[in-house]
Amino acid sequence: MLGIAILGSGAIAAVHADAYLRHKDRCELRAVCDLYPEKAQALVESKALTKAAVYKDAEEALSRTDIDAVSVCLPPGAHAKTAIQALRAGKHVLVEKPMATSLAECDEMIKSAEDAGRLLCCVAQNRYKTPNSKVRTLLGQGVAGRVLHATVNSLWWRGGNYYDLWWRGAWDTECGGCVTSHAVHQVDLLLWMLGKPERVTAVIKNVAHDNSECEDLGVAILEYPGMLAQLTASLVAHDEEQEMIFQAERGRLSVPWKTAACRALPNGFPQDAADVKNELQARYDELPDLPLEGHPAQIGNFLAAIKGEAPLDVTGRDGRAALELIMAIYKSSALRQPVSLPLDPGDEFYRRETMTARMPRFYQKKRAVENFADAKITLGRDVGR
Ligand SMILES: NC(=O)c1ccc[n+]([C@@H]2O[C@H](COP(=O)([O-])OP(=O)(O)OC[C@H]3O[C@@H](n4cnc5c(N)ncnc54)[C@H](O)[C@@H]3O)[C@@H](O)[C@H]2O)c1
Repeated sequence: MLGIAILGSGAIAAVHADAYLRHKDRCELRAVCDLYPEKAQALVESKALTKAAVYKDAEEALSRTDIDAVSVCLPPGAHAKTAIQALRAGKHVLVEKPMATSLAECDEMIKSAEDAGRLLCCVAQNRYKTPNSKVRTLLGQGVAGRVLHATVNSLWWRGGNYYDLWWRGAWDTECGGCVTSHAVHQVDLLLWMLGKPERVTAVIKNVAHDNSECEDLGVAILEYPGMLAQLTASLVAHDEEQEMIFQAERGRLSVPWKTAACRALPNGFPQDAADVKNELQARYDELPDLPLEGHPAQIGNFLAAIKGEAPLDVTGRDGRAALELIMAIYKSSALRQPVSLPLDPGDEFYRRETMTARMPRFYQKKRAVENFADAKITLGRDVGR
């Protein structure tokens, strides 16, 4: 039985607790930690975690020898320090997105995992959604031909008071606005499906959130050989639609799922290619649904990898790759010029201090509450539906 600690008992911690409980044949929640122990206690009670002790200090939980793995559910600014502490204490680590607030921190985390011989996994729960998984498989099989244009919409809506939580809306503690905290999901999916772009051109703005230093809107153009991808990250989209559309040589593949296909008339204008569309639909339908989705599925893989039964699906290197593309988006928007990847360790956008010094402060953060009265959150509405 693997002993688990959840570090941080805010909104996402409850999702982790539920996910571990789906695997109670192979793991037991033994420690729950929060700066506010009453929040840890509330989590223990609400999920009936009868074997879990409550801690205020993560180090105390990490000193227990019957803890094998931890979920780091802290604000982004605290991910690296706590993950490294946990790895050095010999624990396997699952860290929430974004993996950290700089590439330097990511590299330190990856090195700590290698030195300790422990697993470092970064949350990317949307990889475990049936439509995402099926579309990625179809892209890998090349059934629609070469992708020519990808449209990635990370569209969310948040009220102004969303940024009243103390760590949100500040470069140091959140590492950015919607490009980091929200679009990180689609950035990870895009990298997983199509790999890394060569160059990025981006603009960010804050159009409606006056308690945040960071952006609430961002548009990026990603250049690949023979292909363009465009990413929109927004917190002002009332319908909160998250979608990924791949227009390929033979037809369209997308999440949410929809296909279409055209072929040319003698004058070059389009005509429905119903045979291709039917073929793409059949290829989609014949792929199996995932047996488990989201956090429960990713945590299942994390536990299986600890036991040596499966390779780890999402590694620290994957979490770093997503942050690298996000940093390239910020660099391009700050410098108002295209940015080539990769970003090397000499780059200003490699370290938190030099990166945050270059970023605009759209507004000064004036309101900061330590905790909201209700910690409940919504996760992506359309992703994976
Ligand atoms: N995967 C997803 O879809 C998803 C969704 C929401 C949040 N998240 C991520 O989860 C992380 C946490 O977000 P949240 O919404 O749960 O935040 P939250 O503020 O609700 O919870 C964080 C908790 O950590 C505690 N804390 C802060 N510093 C601490 C420390 N040093 N030691 C112990 N406890 C400490 C806080 O008191 C708080 O209870 C963030 O990285 C966020 O981006 C992921």
